[in-house]
Amino acid sequence: MPVKDDKKTGRIFSVGGGKGGVGKSIFSISLGMSLVEKGFKVVIADLDLGTANLHTYIGITKKTPTLADFILKKLSSLDDIIVETSEKNLGLISGAEFVPGMANPAHWMKLKMMRHLKSLTADFVIIDLGAGVHFNTLDFFGISDRGFVVTAPEPGAVMNAYVFIKGAFFRKLQNVFSKHPEIGPLIESEIKKTETEKSFTLEWFSARVREIDPEMLPLIDEIENSFRPALVVNRTTECGTPILVKNLITLCTQKFGITLEYVGNLPDVRTITHYLLNLPKFYDTPHGRPFFDSVRHIVDRLDIPGDELKDIEDLRDDFSDEEIEELIGFIETLDDSVFEGTSKKLLQLRMYFKPSDVLNFLIGRGITHDLFYI
Ligand SMILES: Nc1ncnc2c1ncn2[C@@H]1O[C@H](COP(=O)(O)OP(=O)(O)OP(=O)(O)O)[C@@H](O)[C@H]1O
Ligand SMILES: [Mg+2]
Repeated sequence: MPVKDDKKTGRIFSVGGGKGGVGKSIFSISLGMSLVEKGFKVVIADLDLGTANLHTYIGITKKTPTLADFILKKLSSLDDIIVETSEKNLGLISGAEFVPGMANPAHWMKLKMMRHLKSLTADFVIIDLGAGVHFNTLDFFGISDRGFVVTAPEPGAVMNAYVFIKGAFFRKLQNVFSKHPEIGPLIESEIKKTETEKSFTLEWFSARVREIDPEMLPLIDEIENSFRPALVVNRTTECGTPILVKNLITLCTQKFGITLEYVGNLPDVRTITHYLLNLPKFYDTPHGRPFFDSVRHIVDRLDIPGDELKDIEDLRDDFSDEEIEELIGFIETLDDSVFEGTSKKLLQLRMYFKPSDVLNFLIGRGITHDLFYI
């Protein structure tokens, strides 16, 4: 079984959902336990900045390092903050205790956290996000390899899930196109419109991009293909797909071209409340076993064979803003013949959100640069 001992995280999963109290944290822990059971090494990071509570759910009562120590620079690496839990191979990065300003770290700190999360020594990092659609939450959701959206089968929660997915999708578009002189402002102006004023559908957006800069169309296809939130419905009392959830999936597809993959239900289990100070114990109880079986079922649907984990090599996939600018300048100096089959401009824009693809492309054409390597 693949417990890696190298220096990179295999995959980052994030768990969000918009509404408070729908079971995001309980699902994060359950997902972590289920991956550990499969032989993986997992770290759960409590990024519910300001109102973190994952450590209590996992049975940690003593004072441990938290993200506050990292944010306040008392500890320099996220690796130093990982706390061992009662479960072998399940580590925890405890959320920030309340310190003024903690819930809203500066942009550079967010980037630093993302960089450190990506380089943790684990097969999987699971990010438990807070409620709401704050940019921090959406950004962390956006950087993950797979984002889970947890909802409950009731109108308020499903509506919040929709707002969350929409927010995350626009934030992704914003991040990808922010440096484009015309498409960036087009997205900004759509975001500012009210729901009734908005003309946005993916079709509309593609048509506009085709007029403005057709070279950018492959990026839209790429976002459409890669932005595939996994939907988990918690606290269900019946089998099957609740009608509200069916409507949510249809709405996301029609409006934004987003594929929402419905990965499973978790049953409503009253007795879970007796184990909120030590959830791992719950999984071995008569009510806990069927609940945990549902989680296993979800993990099985994710189809994660060990050899699908990212190959570890010396190539970097993470750069500071200055390094990205330097590489974009470097691409500018390259001869047009290098870009046959694609475009220089597209690769330059792609540097902002998928630098590893650009590096692989350039290396494939025999081009290297010192900044490519660790
Ligand atoms: N499947 C379930 N069956 C019964 N109760 C549940 C279930 N899932 C969650 N709960 C209840 O909902 C509460 C909130 O769960 P949890 O803390 O995981 O939600 P959350 O989405 O992380 O909340 P927050 O937005 O505050 O972070 C739990 O304390 C528990 O009482
Ligand atoms: Mg929570």
